[in-house]
Amino acid sequence: MKHSPFTRKILQWYAVNKRHLPWRGTVEPFRIWLSEVLLQQTRVQQGLPYYERFIREFPTVRDLAAADEEKVLKLWQGLGYYSRARNLKKAAEMVVDEYGGTFPNTVSELKTLPGVGDYTAAAIASICYNLPEAVVDGNVYRVLARYFGIDIPIDSAEGKRHFRELASELLDRENPGDFNQAVMEFGAMVCTPAKPGCMDCVLAASCAALQKDLVKQLPIKSRKTGVRKRYFNYVVLRDPEHRTILEQRKGKGIWQNLYQFPLIESDKTLDQEEFGELLKKEMPGYSPLAIFEPNPSYQVHKLSHQHLVTKFWVLPLPDNLENGITIEEAHKLPVPVLVADTLKTLKNSYF
Ligand code: ADE
Repeated sequence: MKHSPFTRKILQWYAVNKRHLPWRGTVEPFRIWLSEVLLQQTRVQQGLPYYERFIREFPTVRDLAAADEEKVLKLWQGLGYYSRARNLKKAAEMVVDEYGGTFPNTVSELKTLPGVGDYTAAAIASICYNLPEAVVDGNVYRVLARYFGIDIPIDSAEGKRHFRELASELLDRENPGDFNQAVMEFGAMVCTPAKPGCMDCVLAASCAALQKDLVKQLPIKSRKTGVRKRYFNYVVLRDPEHRTILEQRKGKGIWQNLYQFPLIESDKTLDQEEFGELLKKEMPGYSPLAIFEPNPSYQVHKLSHQHLVTKFWVLPLPDNLENGITIEEAHKLPVPVLVADTLKTLKNSYF
């Protein structure tokens, strides 16, 4: 079969330059699925240790299906989007209960698994089962938008269709897994969002964006994501035996099922007096001996659509807490990273 020049060149580049990653030597769907779910969430270098820890703890899909959700959340800690970790476990259960422990081998069945959408299904189908399915992720949008000089917004319905069809036309149907990984790898290593390596790029001679000086402008997004500011006041109780309370976050929204200090949300940053007032209203059962101002005064935790302006207030109590736990015990629970960081600081100061 004759390939487009793009396809030929990018496959050649990949054969020489691909990184040797632990999941590149296998077509075992469990490992490919796990690596792709991790890589949707983080870059390769950051994702590697997570992959190694997951595989060590759960060598097979059956091990993951049988695991405690809390253990899975703990291994995921620091990656964000914790629903992905919960879906990981649910999908493993479904593979075991409904597919007899073997990953399904069609895109439509793969998409019945929680958390598996077009992207992950195409990645597994092409890499593990050699099916002619093109993946379209952020890397693919960027590489194609630049090389072909496409200025249709990638977050519009038209853009999505256009890029999906183009990727499918370019796909090497004999080696769909290599082609898909080649484009993603090229986007991660050469055609990067900032400071792309155009000087040594093997596609430079025929890159539309480079010729028209549009590399910085492409790809185009129509919507700017609005960032919402939220103000978190974490209540760090400390009883005479240096125990504290963590609660599990329930309901929808960020950090579902993770643990945190009791939280009072406010509509602005509070000083000590304002916080004291709010505390009386929201948690009337406690009469702390003092309220320690946080140090540092506040921390800003940036998520993709929210900036969390966070204060940790330490409150020494006169009486022992009924369900108090030590800081060491708190450390073992799955917590958001900003709580994990604060637990470390607290151990050296108030606890
Ligand atoms: N990003 C997401 N999946 C990838 C893969 N398989 N290879 C390189 N980069 C990726």
